[in-house]
Amino acid sequence: MRILTGIQSSGRPHLGNILGAIVPAIQLSEQTGNESFLFIADLHSLTTLRDGETRREYVRAIAATWLAFGYDTDKNTIWRQSRVAEHTELAWYLNCFTPMPMLQNATSFKDKSDKLGSSAVSAGLFTYPILQAADILLYDAHLVPVGKDQRQHIEMTRDIASSVNHQYGSEVFVLPEPRIDERIMTIPGIDGAKMSKSYGNYIDIFEAPNDLYKVIKKIKSDSTPLEEPKNPDMDITFQLYSLIASDEQVAQMRRNYEAGGYGYGHAKKELYELILTKYATERERFDFYMNNDAELEKVLIAGEEKARTVARQTIGRVRTVMGFN
Ligand code: ADP
Ligand code: TRP
Repeated sequence: MRILTGIQSSGRPHLGNILGAIVPAIQLSEQTGNESFLFIADLHSLTTLRDGETRREYVRAIAATWLAFGYDTDKNTIWRQSRVAEHTELAWYLNCFTPMPMLQNATSFKDKSDKLGSSAVSAGLFTYPILQAADILLYDAHLVPVGKDQRQHIEMTRDIASSVNHQYGSEVFVLPEPRIDERIMTIPGIDGAKMSKSYGNYIDIFEAPNDLYKVIKKIKSDSTPLEEPKNPDMDITFQLYSLIASDEQVAQMRRNYEAGGYGYGHAKKELYELILTKYATERERFDFYMNNDAELEKVLIAGEEKARTVARQTIGRVRTVMGFN
């Protein structure tokens, strides 16, 4: 099975991205018979982020995170979307098969354009789903693991692909299936709302220890005095700790909360220490790649070459059926 997914380079990955998307996708890529294509959607991020230097930094941080968590680049492929020009070429062909109302009705477009106001809405934001369809169809992907908000974009991809297949009476494109794991919970941020780059409530597990601790100390808690028993199930620090700790560790912290004489400050310190020990290897590998541009570049360039080989075959097929060869 060929699995493909893209991550926009619009920020550094946080604990929510890691537990909600990165770790599950790596597990999927490790299953026998699966081969995974993972790219950094830097062209998509141009719809919201125009500064090249910031974008480059995010691209590096995303690639370094995947590598730090053990994404196997011998078996799988990782690359930058902008380096394989076939994405934009295919997007044009698909533009000509996409009905305008389909784009106008896209919820993600409506949400984003409502926030921006009409003068700031670019044509790129409008045709964003077409580039996404090109990303997927270019690689004959069977399965696309994404968050719930992306379901509509995958449906649009299937509609566009069907329209091309129907026109040319052949199987030009593979119709992809979304893989949306409803069980994956929404990881809370330090204020209890969904952890997100855009809410500024996230935990960056790769930060320097002091900065990491500062953020963890800011996790919201109630005002129960230290001596009194506390309800762990109502507490964000406990929830975050439970997501990464072993069963015994969770049971021990639960007893501590319920016994009293144990404050939120103690729990935060334990969470902080657990992040440092649990992710020690990943933190080291992340730093290695962030400080060794040449190593990171080597992996991305090798990925680009593998991706381009597949992309060229698909483009050849498309050019032939459409009469451009
Ligand atoms: P953000 O909200 O920080 O901008 P993205 O929309 O870029 O995150 O999401 C990238 C991936 O990470 C998606 O697959 C999304 O489902 C997942 N993800 C983001 N935030 C969370 C969270 N708080 N809990 C679980 N998964 C998340
Ligand atoms: N739109 C996706 C997001 O914001 C990112 C993305 C771009 C993508 N191209 C893709 C995801 C292709 C899956 C497949 O999360």
